[in-house]
Amino acid sequence: MKSAIEIREAGIDDVEAIAAVGHASFQRAYEEWSHPDDLVAHLDAFFSVDAIQKEMRLPGHSYLIALHEGAAAGFVKIRENTRPDEVPATRALELHQVYVMPDQQRSGVGGLLIAAAANFARDKAADGIWLTVWEDASWAVNCYRKYGFEKVGTTDFQLGRTVYNDLLMWRPT
Ligand SMILES: CC(C)(COP(=O)(O)OP(=O)(O)OC[C@H]1O[C@@H](n2cnc3c(N)ncnc32)[C@H](O)[C@@H]1OP(=O)(O)O)[C@@H](O)C(=O)NCCC(=O)NCCS
Repeated sequence: MKSAIEIREAGIDDVEAIAAVGHASFQRAYEEWSHPDDLVAHLDAFFSVDAIQKEMRLPGHSYLIALHEGAAAGFVKIRENTRPDEVPATRALELHQVYVMPDQQRSGVGGLLIAAAANFARDKAADGIWLTVWEDASWAVNCYRKYGFEKVGTTDFQLGRTVYNDLLMWRPT
């Protein structure tokens, strides 16, 4: 476990740092599995400064950022009001993106972000958190299982010309 990880709600001044984490982490994890043009388009659509600024201003969208020695190590984006029927909770918040800097992975940052997101959800009177994850992303599926998520369904995720099979997972807060 890393020492001195601070997790707090992110604001507009954190957008560039979040974009840098999302870009680096997504590219490292998924470039092997996606068409290069689709990857570039996805990075621009989801991890450009402009895209994150817009998302942050949407109602029911929040970001928590993890800082290690003052530098961004990871973030989680949380969405309200998106719960699918398969998730057996009265009110559940979605962890729409969980990303940790490649050189900071596997030292507990992801777990701290998930714990912070569960606390955030509890403060919003939610009894569950849920997410989708590509079924072949063993690193992420293992991580979510480790922190108490279980599979409750499947769904599709389209990245450019490819449709990926995703798992739908949830856990109580
Ligand atoms: C998924 C992710 C957020 C986890 O963050 P993290 O900081 O590495 O997570 P933690 O250190 O808290 O948890 C580590 C656990 O995750 C799993 N894990 C993480 N990296 C792994 C890897 N390379 N191979 C296998 N399992 C891995 C293991 O269960 C591990 O526990 P262990 O070390 O006891 O075996 C991070 O790997 C990441 O950003 N990946 C790239 C982006 C991504 O795929 N995000 C998820 C999209 S749904």
